[in-house]
Amino acid sequence: MSHSLEWSRAYAHRLTAGDGERFSSRQEELAAQLARELASGQLPFLNMPYREKLLHDLPPLISRLKQFKHMLLLGIGGSALGARAIQRAFAPGQDGPNHAGPWLWIADNVCAKTFEALLGKLSPAETAVVCISKSGGTIETLAQYFLAREWLGKAMGERWKEHMIIVTDREKGYLREEVGRFDLSSLEVPDFLGGRYSALSAVGMLPAAFLGIDWQALLDGALDVARPLIRDPAGLGRHPSFSLACWARALEERQYSQLIFFCYIPSWAAYGLWFAQLWAESLGKEGKGTMPVPAVGVTDQHSVNQMFLDGPRDKGCLFLTGRSQPKCCGFGQDLPDKWSWLAGKPFSNLLEAEALGTRMALAANAVPIVHIDMDDDGPRAAGALMMLLEAATVFTGWLLDINPLDQPAVELGKRLANARLGAGGYPEENAALSAFLAVPRQEQTF
Ligand code: PA5
Repeated sequence: MSHSLEWSRAYAHRLTAGDGERFSSRQEELAAQLARELASGQLPFLNMPYREKLLHDLPPLISRLKQFKHMLLLGIGGSALGARAIQRAFAPGQDGPNHAGPWLWIADNVCAKTFEALLGKLSPAETAVVCISKSGGTIETLAQYFLAREWLGKAMGERWKEHMIIVTDREKGYLREEVGRFDLSSLEVPDFLGGRYSALSAVGMLPAAFLGIDWQALLDGALDVARPLIRDPAGLGRHPSFSLACWARALEERQYSQLIFFCYIPSWAAYGLWFAQLWAESLGKEGKGTMPVPAVGVTDQHSVNQMFLDGPRDKGCLFLTGRSQPKCCGFGQDLPDKWSWLAGKPFSNLLEAEALGTRMALAANAVPIVHIDMDDDGPRAAGALMMLLEAATVFTGWLLDINPLDQPAVELGKRLANARLGAGGYPEENAALSAFLAVPRQEQTF
């Protein structure tokens, strides 16, 4: 069996098959772009030219890291969300009772309280700190790096260096300089591999391997999906990622402004946040794009689903299910009469039945749906899904005539924050800050 996309309810309501076909007619042009960008090395998430080196470099590092009970990951955005999704899906033990390690702690915010609590409770001697930043200059990550470096140094002296691993650009950036300065262990984030496309590189694979997850299977699954595109870019039109892109582009054209990612594989719930960043940061440009809305079945049936069903008719849905649900926790025969129809059935039947019910209700309420049905919920399947969604995101960007690999709009806020913190070289931002703060406040207290 293989994973599948089910299209019978994708072109529905005000979205017609003709809408998708208009965009699929651009397949030759996009196939040529794909061939060009693969040849020039600009799509490393797809053909993974770094894979051999990673297979060579990662295992010895992991053998060394096995001495640590804890890994503290410092990173944000694409440097953190993939690792979190992979940990929650494939090493969930640390989030439940009686876990004996290893543990992965992801610090992807600048919450002083949380960070202080982490450093206060972790033992430096038992902790490897992994600092991940493609640019090597992200203020949130660097700030945590400086604090963690000091924390390790106070406890370990010069041996702090043995506890610090850097994952960053091969040549550029402040963190790469730190590697040279202190002779720190490091792994590379390959050229042209932006944060949100980097989960299947050292960025996500180092924490995955530390947790004992089958990280090679994640890569294999991704390559299963990418291989047809790499071998035959001209066949782009037949690839499911391109079909998804045409559908998503057609949705946007027809004023569906939101794309629900409804995940009915509960252990994969954190993939919703990973997908949201991938989709939003890649496609929200020049007034274009659709807003990703991550939701988790069945939990969100009792939360945001009412809005999906009967709010504005502006939503499409990627509906994710898995075929292999565990048959554990069956109901016994001793149930009250009112519930006797559950007797002898596995608990997991609820998930299947509720997923079907919700999918039908969405379809009945004017939501175009692509149903992604995974044959299983193992790492290889997750790698396949990640690659499918990354490729679909890039092709949607090309159909929108924007660059899905950059994120220019987010720079302004970063520059203003740096200026606010007193960094030099921001005269315009300093002036803008003064002007903004000079506007008289109109306060209402509560
Ligand atoms: O996807 C992206 O490019 C961003 O979300 C980055 O991952 C994020 O800004 C962190 O950047 P860096 O890895 O350079 O620290």
